[in-house]
Amino acid sequence: MKNLMFRRPRRISFSVFVVVFFLSTFLVSTVFARSLPKVLIPAEDWIRVEAEISRQKLRTHFQYPGIAPGAVIASPQKSNPNYFRHWIRDGALVVSSIVPFTFENKQTYWRKFISDYILFSLKNQATTANFGEPIFEVDGSLFTGPWGRPQTDGPALRALAMMDWADHLISIGDIKTVEAYLYKSSLPAKTLIKADLEYVAYHWRNSSFDLWEEVRADHFFTRMVQYKALIRGAEFALKMNDPYASVFYQKEASDLKNALMDHYEPKGATLIPSLNFQEGVSYKYSRVDIAVLLGALRGANSVYPLESNEVRNSFYKIVKAFADLYPVNQRFNTMAPALGRYPEDIYGGVDFNGGNPWVLATLAAAEYSYEMSLRVNRKFDVNYWFNKGDEFLQRVQLHANPDGSLAEQIHRDTGFMVSAADLSWNYAAILTTADARTRAWLHKLNFK
Ligand code: NOJ
Ligand code: NOJ
Repeated sequence: MKNLMFRRPRRISFSVFVVVFFLSTFLVSTVFARSLPKVLIPAEDWIRVEAEISRQKLRTHFQYPGIAPGAVIASPQKSNPNYFRHWIRDGALVVSSIVPFTFENKQTYWRKFISDYILFSLKNQATTANFGEPIFEVDGSLFTGPWGRPQTDGPALRALAMMDWADHLISIGDIKTVEAYLYKSSLPAKTLIKADLEYVAYHWRNSSFDLWEEVRADHFFTRMVQYKALIRGAEFALKMNDPYASVFYQKEASDLKNALMDHYEPKGATLIPSLNFQEGVSYKYSRVDIAVLLGALRGANSVYPLESNEVRNSFYKIVKAFADLYPVNQRFNTMAPALGRYPEDIYGGVDFNGGNPWVLATLAAAEYSYEMSLRVNRKFDVNYWFNKGDEFLQRVQLHANPDGSLAEQIHRDTGFMVSAADLSWNYAAILTTADARTRAWLHKLNFK
């Protein structure tokens, strides 16, 4: 009797508990999950934490089990989509982003990694004379599956990353390493930078698949990074006692500069992402593509400087197009919008049912804004651009996973991270954006 009395109320409270539990889980998942309830911390704090996370993530990627030393996996994800490979473009962008903080002598871990990357890349170059091959397997062999080939931005980006590194080595008196692995005038080229520069100088006129690997044409992004590689290459060749090559790179650079002029669109004074379509995705009509901003950021500033009307107008046009496009931007419409690759995009990572905003695209807007704040000299303008940078950062913070990890895309409806997890390129973009923000912050101090 005593037992029964004792048990009954317990049974009731248990079923009440079960009902309440399921009801609340349901409510939480439908109401709250859809609205990403998140308390954002100040941009300044978030970028500091996120940059540290990014360095750790890259370190983990560099020593990922089963990969050759020096390989940069685009993401650890092996299926849906499989990004467990070394893309020349992604690898070069990652290495560019870490080179600046490896200059301090104590950074032995990173310095060793860059040496491995050089050896890995030399093997890539020795594997095929076609440097337009975009992807290598993690063991260093060529990826031979069907793909958009060639992609000629890779060698240019790699040469740029390596010239930064070589300049650093020269500044600490290590010319030996530079001559042995990076630049020797002798032909056929057997050193990393020299071989890439030769490739760019001889091949920039050929059409290429774009950085999104979808359209073979003449692309603004590809040309901007090639131009920068040739201009810097001409300077670097002189330094390396290779004066004839220097003249050759300079000459190719000035022809390429003329070709870049064709990307000017008088209507609205903007920049055209791609010209002379050859093959591939054929439904891109808007001429809106974040590749233009990325080209301005990673490419040569002497043709279309970041502060030029053309780049600025393109920036506003891109931001507007995506603000109107994605539901997730309308739901949080007091914030800066999340940006995608281009409005007609349908690649969702796993399927082709609709495009999404991308982390690296949204970060490009933040980085550009900070760079702009460095190039203006009125308090109002400095603050305007600096705050804009922070607004785009906050947008990324809103959609980032709670542990700070960043996947390739942000779902256009739910706002959650989708497609390849832990995209290396995203972490590189965090590092370059954090660096731009630090410089912008110092500049802003002058306008108190
Ligand atoms: C994979 C590529 O990496 C991506 O950029 C592209 O959108 C899809 N394939 C579709 O071509
Ligand atoms: C697809 C992107 O479109 C391309 O730019 C990138 O190189 C690969 N994914 C690997 O991250």
